Amino acid sequence: MADQERLEVSEAEVAVHWQEEDYYYPPVEFIAQANMTDAGIYERFSLENFPECFKEYADLLDWYQYWHTTLDTSDAPCWKWFVGGKINACYNCVDRHLPRYRNKAALIFVPEPEEEPHVAITYQELYVRVNEVAALLRDFVGLKTGDRVTIHMPMVPELPIMMLACARLGVIHSVVFAGFSGQACGERIADSGSHILVTMDGYYRNGQLLDHKVKADEALKAAQELGQTVDKVLVWRRHRGQYASQAPMVEGRDYFMDDLLANYGGQRVEPVKMPAEAPLFLMYTSGTTGKPKAAQHSTGGYLSYVAGTSKYVQDIHPEDVYWCMADIGWITGHSYIVYGPLAIAATSVLYEGVPTYPDAGRPWRIAERLNVNIFHTAPTAIRMLRKVGPEEPKKYNYQFKHMTTVGEPIEPEVWKWYYEVVGKGKAVIVDTWWQTETGGFLCSTMPALHPMKPGSTGPGVPGIHPVIYDEEGNEIPAGSGKAGNICIRNPWPGAFQTIWGDRDRYVATYYAKYCKNKESKDWRDWPYLTGDAAMQAADGYYRILGRIDDVINVAGHRLGTKELESACLLVPEVAEASVVPRVDELRGRVPDVYISLKPGYAPSQEIKDAVVKSIEDTIGKIARPKNVYIVPDMPKTRSGKIMRRVLAALSNNQQDVGDVTTLVNPEVVEEIRQMVQGS
Ligand code: WTA
Repeated sequence: MADQERLEVSEAEVAVHWQEEDYYYPPVEFIAQANMTDAGIYERFSLENFPECFKEYADLLDWYQYWHTTLDTSDAPCWKWFVGGKINACYNCVDRHLPRYRNKAALIFVPEPEEEPHVAITYQELYVRVNEVAALLRDFVGLKTGDRVTIHMPMVPELPIMMLACARLGVIHSVVFAGFSGQACGERIADSGSHILVTMDGYYRNGQLLDHKVKADEALKAAQELGQTVDKVLVWRRHRGQYASQAPMVEGRDYFMDDLLANYGGQRVEPVKMPAEAPLFLMYTSGTTGKPKAAQHSTGGYLSYVAGTSKYVQDIHPEDVYWCMADIGWITGHSYIVYGPLAIAATSVLYEGVPTYPDAGRPWRIAERLNVNIFHTAPTAIRMLRKVGPEEPKKYNYQFKHMTTVGEPIEPEVWKWYYEVVGKGKAVIVDTWWQTETGGFLCSTMPALHPMKPGSTGPGVPGIHPVIYDEEGNEIPAGSGKAGNICIRNPWPGAFQTIWGDRDRYVATYYAKYCKNKESKDWRDWPYLTGDAAMQAADGYYRILGRIDDVINVAGHRLGTKELESACLLVPEVAEASVVPRVDELRGRVPDVYISLKPGYAPSQEIKDAVVKSIEDTIGKIARPKNVYIVPDMPKTRSGKIMRRVLAALSNNQQDVGDVTTLVNPEVVEEIRQMVQGS
């Protein structure tokens, strides 16, 4: 089993173990205004009340028609929620708020250039623009319910507008993070079977107007090579009427959205009444094999779950100003910038650029100016802001009531800076643990109900029942101090439905390991494998240790080591490549690349550069390795297997690399150590 052989060094194995920290209690001012102060919610969402309990979340939405079956398990483990229900996600995020909130900001766009004014888009304006885009998609592009559209766009308001317009028509959107390369985008176009690509000419990042449309041409070429033809490319312009890209517009294929929209002024499109279990979107993520996989998310279940968790875990009220600094191109942005917040009539802030541009005070100036009171970001951003501007938050007159951290484990030191300096000791913090596949939060404290514990995520959120299994499938009890594989016992409405077009991979990856009976239609037999290692303290709080599979979480971005290794092997001189996680002060983990060369080639800087470039071209700059080491040979077992464990130990400055007696070439370890550790 090649895949199993690879599970020999994982993030979890290089995890840092922190001590148990003391509790911090939520401020009374927070509790006094919180959406959820009733500890009875855990009773209501207990397994005895499963699955009907989730009606409480579904009832936050407007349904055209109620469901007849809350949870249909007949196609286990492809769970169907709210079957028979009819709903439209766009209607729920836009239209239904008009009577009360027509003139309230739905989105506030903050451009990266500080001299460019903010743009507030009211619910009325959002309604108008989404309708016009939906009319264009239907009448000009010819999109129909169930079609897929790939959207490769940066953090601009046109991105959520595009998503909502798709949702209005029942068209399945697949948003690809703008930082991904054209090649990576093309693979996702092909996998999803999109005939349409939506992109933008350029966007600002770190003070530069980047050329983004150029990636569209690379993407189309890559998709074509995989047999997928794209008929139309819709191009938004960052500045209306001005084209910021060097890439030519292709006649009959590429269209400027601002030109086209002139024909759709004032048009309205009836929202399509979608079955609850119709797919709403695809979100690609990395896994054990090189091929990215798309998590397929539902309409009714997903929207119910993100609405419920936005209301109770994020504690968003319509009068709050909520800013999640993630990118919409990732699941956090889908669930907690767009769908969750808009479903509950929030004002959601969208920031185009990097947090430290032009200086480390930027986020706090934005918070002060917009009166942001709920702030949501990732440990990697917190570490960066702490490093470059530890005193900056003190200079600005803002006050958060609530702050979220997501995406990676947060070091207690960093947590405390977040709490004391960013939150000024007055904001509650939730450390939310979840995944692309899970649609919404799995573990977190409930902000008004639990004390916080730095470095720990908290218990399962209402309706989520985690369990930690050892390799044999025995439950590891709370407080035992032992780590294991964290799973979820039960399905929940936010969970993805399958991997797009690959049910077998879905079952194999997420359910096969601990399934009690493959024939069973009972959800109790199908615990969901998250792919993370965790331990549970005696108080029930979980601490996440990192991935147990071949995934590296770099600055909150999930990268498959296989994808990185494949990119290295595209360099002609490279014979073998091995990628391991290295602990990094700012980015959490970073990839370290080890390559060996084909006979007849000598190590050179050019080869290292070519490896880095190949990774950037095939995946994107986010995947750039920390180091590329050209080794004389890989440490290998007698059966020829590369011992990543040894390489990971060296990358992480460990003196003890473990047992090397099974290696055919133990002497190479010392050579590599000198190269990596320098002594
Ligand atoms: C990790 C992001 C520790 C974890 C929402 C998970 C976390 C992977 C946390 C999913 C957290 C996410 N503490 N680790 N609070 N949140 N992770 O799919 O390893 O991009 O499996 O979803 O990030 O990453 P993904």
